Formats: sequence, C-alpha cells, structure tokens
Amino acid sequence: MPINPQQVRAQFPTLQREVRPGIPLTYLDSTATSQKPLAVLQAMDDYYRHSNANIHRGVHTLAEEATALYEDARAKIARFIHAPSARQVIFTRNTTESINLVAYTWARANLQAGDLVILTEMEHHSNLVPWHILQAERGIRLEFIPVTENGTLDLEAYRALLQQSPKLVSFTHMSNVLGSITPAAEMIGLAHQAGARVLLDGAQSVPHFPTDVQALDVDFLAFSAHKMCGPTGIGVLYGKADLLEAMPPFLGGGDMIKEVKLRSFRANSIPHKFEAGTPAIAEAIGFGAACDFLTSIGMDAVAAHEHEITAYALERLEEIPGLAVFGRENPHRGGVAAFTLQGIHPHDVAQILDSDGIAVRAGHHCAQPLHEKFGIPATTRASFYLYSTKEEVDKLVDGIYKVKTYFG
Ligand code: ALA
Repeated sequence: MPINPQQVRAQFPTLQREVRPGIPLTYLDSTATSQKPLAVLQAMDDYYRHSNANIHRGVHTLAEEATALYEDARAKIARFIHAPSARQVIFTRNTTESINLVAYTWARANLQAGDLVILTEMEHHSNLVPWHILQAERGIRLEFIPVTENGTLDLEAYRALLQQSPKLVSFTHMSNVLGSITPAAEMIGLAHQAGARVLLDGAQSVPHFPTDVQALDVDFLAFSAHKMCGPTGIGVLYGKADLLEAMPPFLGGGDMIKEVKLRSFRANSIPHKFEAGTPAIAEAIGFGAACDFLTSIGMDAVAAHEHEITAYALERLEEIPGLAVFGRENPHRGGVAAFTLQGIHPHDVAQILDSDGIAVRAGHHCAQPLHEKFGIPATTRASFYLYSTKEEVDKLVDGIYKVKTYFG
C-alpha cells in the first residue's frame, strides 16, 4: 500500500507543532534524526509506568516483565533485518559505538601492523576516526575507494585495491550527504572473494529501505534507532555468529560475564558478552516498537514514498538559479539533497529557512573529507522520510527564493 502521508503524520506529535506562533514545523532533517511516532513514545512510557525494573537480574515479576520486553525488542530488530537469530543482535549506544566495538574487539584481535583496511571517501566520521585511531596504535594501512564526480564509488579502483589482500572493507550503504546508495551486495561479494571481512554502516540505509543481512551476506552491520523512528541512545551491531563468538569482549562489567573471580572472569555468551552494565532498557523497547511501526507501514512503501518525494525535490531545486545539488547525477539515491547556493553561506541559508519553520542541516555533516574532495567547505542539506510531503518541498523552494531575495 502506498503511504498516505497525512495518516502517517498524524502519528507524530512533533509534526503537529508550530515553531513559532502561526509558523508550522517543516521538518527536513530526518537524516540527522527522525521524529518519533506515538507507538514508540507509548511503548517507552508503558515500560516506565508498569514494568520498570532491571533486566537479567531479578526473579520478581517486574524484572521478568522488563527482561521479556527487552529480549522481545531484540527479536523484533532481528526480524527487521532478517538476522538468522536474535543473539546476533547486540545493543550498543549508536552506529558509532557499533563501529568502535568492531574496531576495538575484532580488529584488535585480527589486524597487525601493515594489514589493510579499505574505506571510502564518502564515509561519515564514525567510519573514519576509529580506523585512524587503530592506524596510529597498530600501524594498519588505510586505503579509500574514490568517489566519482557523479557521487558513486569507483568500483574499478575498488577491484584494484582488493588485489592488495585487505583484511576488512568498511563502507556506508548510503551516504548521509550525497544520498548515494552503494552497491553493497556486489561490493561484499567482491570483498569475500578477496578474503576480506565486511562492516556495513547502515545508519542511513536500514531506516529507509528493506535490509536482509543474509541476502547481503554481510559480516557486520551497524545502525541506530534514532534515525528510524526510535529513541536516541540505542543502536545495534549485527554480526555473523562465529565472528561474534570468537571476538574478545568490549566493555567489562556486570551482565557480560558468566563467572567472576577476584583475579579473573569468564565471558558470557553472545549477545550478552558485549552488553556490560545496565543497558538502555526503555530505549530498546522503543526501538522494537519503531520496527513494529515501520513494518506495519512496509519498508517497500517507505522506500517508494521517499523516492517520489526526492525526485520531486530534485526537480524543484534545479529550477533555482545558482543552486547546485551535491551528487545530483547519481540515480541510485535516497532521500537526501545537499546543496550549495552561489554566494550564500549554508549556515545563512539554514538560519533564514528556520525563520519560516523549515528545519535543515548546514555544515559538513560529519563528512569533512568528502566535502574537501570536492572543494566545498559546507552544504545545506534537506532530507526526507516517510512523513515528508511535496508541500514541504514547495515550502523549502519558496524559502530558498526568499533567502536569495534577502541576500540580493
Ligand atoms: N550522521 C547524522 C547526520 O548526517 C548525524 O546528520
């Protein structure tokens, strides 16, 4: 069923508000974080009102209820990404922590000085800096798949890099700036043929189109709840079971152990081995509710709606003299339009749009090397989700004309 945006919007309290009296919110910043539907707010509120207790620790009724809700959420997330089992879904704080978990455990156990990790030039800082840290500490080598002028990855250059026998390829499934959707299945297949493991950054892809970790055959997948209608403070690392089982623990503490002696410990089995301390219980429950919400709408419908809105937005934005959309030529793209407006700083654009209640992000969007490559210090970024409408795109375009008039 195609999305009825008005019906969907009715589920989101924030989308009903005015930014200032008489100025309704036009929220075009879902790539930074999505808004939250009532079902997610209610699930978290219900937990705190009725079942609040710590998990995996008590035999009392509330502790059992809280544990069941938390583990149920894990199972929902596993189904959402088609994971073979819920024990392969590890709760973290966010995508960044999931990538760091792989860098601090799998990578430190498996990579030596001189080993090659392949990244791309379109990575978010969260898929660059953990590897910079490891490079400084271990002397690993980093190489980057170039981004072409049209916003795609140079797959010929990738094939050439694979000849150097990398140990890991880590890349985004969708750029948070260009909106480019990378050919993940093909790239993972090529990496495996070269004997490398693959970490996929799904922060921008899992919220926007169907994800099947088994069809992708991906070794690790990192993503966050807050970009997919869920709360902040919780994310997931999915991993192949044999890899997760062989990896050393990340953080030490309660819950991640089977047994502790004064001078030693035995680690718990997965997923608990990687979940030290009291976790974000309400947030996990909210994350599960977000998966239910998106599943009830259908991820194919979400993707189709965003495709339609994005195509409309690109068409309308192109009418504006002096406006250039970053990576415009790539047809395989999600709901992101980062643009420059000749002679006007992106922060000024964003600030003037805000006076009309239009929320966009301005800056380098935590992808500074990508901006540097194209010699653009910053862009203004509008992004779309299942609740975005063509009327909102029209407001954005009117707002940009206003910015141009203001700056003469
Ligand atoms: N990674 C998020 C963004 O692109 C925060 O805005």
